Amino acid sequence: MLAGFTHAPAVELAERLARLAPGALGHAFFASDGASATEIALKMAFHSWANRGRPEKSRFVALQGGYHGETVGALGVTDVAIFRDAYAPLLRAGLVAPFPARHADDHRFGGIRGAIDAADALRKLLAERHGEIAALIVEPLAQGASGMRFYHPEYLRRARELCTRYEVLLIADEIMTGFGRTGTMFACEQAGIAPDLMCLSKGITGGYLPLSCVLATDAVYGAFYDDRVERGFLHSHSYTGNPLACRAACAVLDLFEREDVLRANEAKAARFIQAAAPLAHHPGVRDFRHLGMIWAFEVESDHADFAARAFALALERGVLLRPIGKTVYFMPPYVVDDAQFALLVDAGLAIVQALGTGA
Ligand SMILES: Cc1ncc(COP(=O)(O)O)c(C=O)c1O
Repeated sequence: MLAGFTHAPAVELAERLARLAPGALGHAFFASDGASATEIALKMAFHSWANRGRPEKSRFVALQGGYHGETVGALGVTDVAIFRDAYAPLLRAGLVAPFPARHADDHRFGGIRGAIDAADALRKLLAERHGEIAALIVEPLAQGASGMRFYHPEYLRRARELCTRYEVLLIADEIMTGFGRTGTMFACEQAGIAPDLMCLSKGITGGYLPLSCVLATDAVYGAFYDDRVERGFLHSHSYTGNPLACRAACAVLDLFEREDVLRANEAKAARFIQAAAPLAHHPGVRDFRHLGMIWAFEVESDHADFAARAFALALERGVLLRPIGKTVYFMPPYVVDDAQFALLVDAGLAIVQALGTGA
């Protein structure tokens, strides 16, 4: 582990991530999976305020429907009942801010009205309680586990402004959205914002080895820069900064550069949107949506066990889908080709035909 030590792959990876990340996130703290990155970001946010003489800033704000992992700290800021409720007595629940959902007539504004209303609610919450709040944590642009819910980047712009105004750190959990998933390297870029802390995992090694990382600003890092050990960030895991995992992550970044993965994905996504048209326009499908390399839709169905049956139907066709309630989503690896995407669409159509209303 990297307890007071370092090695070449960790240094190279930290420097490359800092160059790629929005803003000035020049410090990297490594761990081994998404939830441990969330724990680190929460602990770091609180401890940085405590080191600055403000230990009362110890609460977190999270969005309705947010998901940040399933360890005890991460569940406190996760608002997905199926994962959280069984452990409720163990958790220190975060304050919950409204999700920037689209209004019924919001299609004319591309979801911006929902973003403005949710930001207003956040402003009220922060204005009242900022003295006790360490950080706001969000999944930028797309909530995953609560049903692939996309939202307007204006919310992130406003949330960034509010966090700065009320001295609340902004944690961007890019564990799912990072490394090109939403079309840009990091989802925050589409809002033109930089968080104070950014959590990364999943795509960081292309899924090959377990690794996660929290990037932080100079200001956060500076709060810990002290000779007194108790003011340091004493957090480590056996696999913190594992050299093989860091080398795999550097290899992923090599591929992004050499094969211009973001641009290649853009071309792929344009073809896939066309290929998915029969699904998008199927009368049994609602709210077919797409963001970068994520596709999702709702199926009108009377089957209470929809998710399990849809999973089985897809598997029979050689496709691994994990519907969330009645939301079906495709999140293919970037090596997916046209024939494989057609297979996804076929599986989607089979699900709608077998389980959709009227089927
Ligand atoms: C946004 C987000 N945060 C955190 C996590 C937790 O990551 P892990 O499963 O590696 O603990 C996930 C995983 O699905 C995620 O999508």
